[in-house]
Amino acid sequence: MDINIAIFASGSGSNAERIIKEFEGTLLKPCVVFCNKPNAFVLERSKKLGVPAVVFNREEFSSENFLDKLSAFKIDFIVLAGFLWKVPEYLIKAYPNKIINIHPALLPKYGGKGMYGSHVHEAVVANGEQETGITIHLVNENYDEGRHIFQAKCPVTPNDTPETVASKIHELEYEHFPAVIAQYISDYKV
Ligand code: GRF
Repeated sequence: MDINIAIFASGSGSNAERIIKEFEGTLLKPCVVFCNKPNAFVLERSKKLGVPAVVFNREEFSSENFLDKLSAFKIDFIVLAGFLWKVPEYLIKAYPNKIINIHPALLPKYGGKGMYGSHVHEAVVANGEQETGITIHLVNENYDEGRHIFQAKCPVTPNDTPETVASKIHELEYEHFPAVIAQYISDYKV
């Protein structure tokens, strides 16, 4: 039976693209991209890949009627791939343990409000960390605090800059995110 996945992304969408491509020909169907930024590059990517996109604003996201937009695609699981807004409680309740996020650091370090995108890598370098990594976790009511599903690490050297750290992190994300999503969904027990 097909499993329908909504990908929420509001930036470049390189992870979204990887997921869509890797799931091609499997039972996992990333059938829609949800995006809160009308000019985000992820919308170009989804168009090219033939995946429909839904652009929405804060008001729409804060209302429970938003669930109708997901029901229209019979969504089973939600993947956040570079999506920054806090997920409202009604959505977490409607998709219990079915919302997966990726964070570009080794949570609980470098998590929480304000810790997103380049801010994370800047803080990692400024603090002289010797390693960083990715955390794939479930989403609950608090930013970056849901149960961890997976972590992977990479070294940070004295020569690294926030930009080089970002590219190491992206490599880790591409390597692991699609596979971890697939494994989590196949292990999921109702
Ligand atoms: C990723 O590093 C992800 O961990 C973070 O935002 C970035 C999104 O990159 N939450 P992209 O839009 O998938 O290229």
